[in-house]
Amino acid sequence: MIFFDKFNNNNPQLTYFFYFCTMEQKEDKLKEVISHAKEYGYVFPSSEIYDGLAATYDYGQLGSELKNNIKTYWWKSMTQMHENIVGIDSAIFMHPTTWKASGHVDAFNDPLIDNKDSKKRYRADVLIEEHIEKIRQKINKEVEKASKKFGEAFDKAQFLATNPNVLRNSQKITEIEDRMRTTLENNDLEGVQQLIIDLEIVCPISGSKNWTEVRQFNLMFSTELGSVAGDAATIYLRPETAQGIFVNFLNVQKSGRMKIPFGIAQIGKAFRNEIVARQFIFRMREFEQMEMQFFVRPGEEMKWYEYWKETRVKWHKALGLGDDAYRLHDHIKLAHYANAACDIEFDFPMGFKELEGIHSRTDFDLKQHEEFSGKKLQFFDPELNESYVPYVVETSVGLDRMFLAVLSNSLNTEKLEDGSERVVLSLPAALAPYKVAIMPLTRKDGLPEKAREIFDTLKYDFQCQYDEKDSPGKRYRRQDAIGTPFCVMVDHETMENNTVTVRDRDTMQQVRIAISELHTLIDEKVNLRNLLQNL
Ligand code: GAP
Repeated sequence: MIFFDKFNNNNPQLTYFFYFCTMEQKEDKLKEVISHAKEYGYVFPSSEIYDGLAATYDYGQLGSELKNNIKTYWWKSMTQMHENIVGIDSAIFMHPTTWKASGHVDAFNDPLIDNKDSKKRYRADVLIEEHIEKIRQKINKEVEKASKKFGEAFDKAQFLATNPNVLRNSQKITEIEDRMRTTLENNDLEGVQQLIIDLEIVCPISGSKNWTEVRQFNLMFSTELGSVAGDAATIYLRPETAQGIFVNFLNVQKSGRMKIPFGIAQIGKAFRNEIVARQFIFRMREFEQMEMQFFVRPGEEMKWYEYWKETRVKWHKALGLGDDAYRLHDHIKLAHYANAACDIEFDFPMGFKELEGIHSRTDFDLKQHEEFSGKKLQFFDPELNESYVPYVVETSVGLDRMFLAVLSNSLNTEKLEDGSERVVLSLPAALAPYKVAIMPLTRKDGLPEKAREIFDTLKYDFQCQYDEKDSPGKRYRRQDAIGTPFCVMVDHETMENNTVTVRDRDTMQQVRIAISELHTLIDEKVNLRNLLQNL
């Protein structure tokens, strides 16, 4: 969650197991994903003709389809699959007092430091984390060396637990992390600066250790409301969608006659003036969140916290990206308003990183809004015959991070039996931008017309692509690269007996079936129902 949690998401014991890939391999994979995303219309750098704008990206023709499908999967799983969850779409601009009440004006900060020689600005915690990463790489090298030396007999866990160099470096990491956590949590900015000095961290540009003091920098973007001077008021672009839910708690509860426990879901843009925004769409200044606040009786929040942890992990795993690609990280040190919090981390090309946060936020936000607005935000519970401010369990997943998780995990280069290679995007079929490509074998003998006929019957239920250019082999490769689960080939036999061949993206197997069976075959594989049923 916001504020402190980003400083305590490292568990050294666990982390070492997942840092086996070399830095180069990870960077290569991320580069491959970025270039594939651009080449096939998934993601473009924003305003590229003007050389782009840092940490802002545009979703292309296929990217917006994939993004919409992820949103639909989340939205339906929340609202359609839960009778007691409804969705809203609140404004990005909110009354400025909202952010005073939520604590964002005073505490939504990053610690910054400048190098006096290069004049470059850095996030102090990131400089320290990068230093830690270098130590981790040393551990990786030790492991790689030992693994090569001992071959199959190599016991990774034992090596990590006993090798003196590994233990010394692990100890170093733990000490640095402890110091970083303590200084940041106590807002001890001198202590953070001292840590940077003690670790002898140098500026990557100037190579010097000539640092300024550390200052806090608020992450909210602000702008002016009103065109007449004097009427203007500072307002903020929301840094999380959750506050739009909190301020509408009573509106939704009353107009929807909702009874506790119930949830309010929302998908929408959020903005943070991230100082170090990088790793493609992982950390951006404009991004989208899918958040749900679940309002419960005070005292029942831990039960619901466990429920949502389990439910959200199931939601992720149903996509079939591999159960090993996820791990849960419980926060040990909690923000002042939370009584439990954890991250669902995903194995991104850059390693395991936060994908979603699940937070038991107590009654902090509603109480703060009661205090700042002077309005009661309570629920009368007929069973208990009393009114109370509900407690809240929040699930918050970044849509762009989901997109990156799905895209990076699905992109593979396969070696085929004949020695050639194919690039295939094995997207979960229900999320694929196009479900089926319809292709006439040749551009004559009435085949294109027949293919169009099939396209026109399927297009009402499936996003289809008509593709007649190039050889069949090239067309198949193109569809593999964009992740289309099925290719339907219309050939001369089609004209005789109304059958077509259907090629499966993953197995590359082709079957001949009647045109009348196409709808069922495609639907069975691509329908979102397949995912929702597994929840
Ligand atoms: N309302 C809770 C909240 O905002 P958070 O952990 O700060 O919590 C929730 O953010 C999720 O939003 C994160 O798990 C991540 O997926 C996504 N997110 C946060 N900052 C982001 C950024 N700069 N770029 C992309 N996604 C981001």
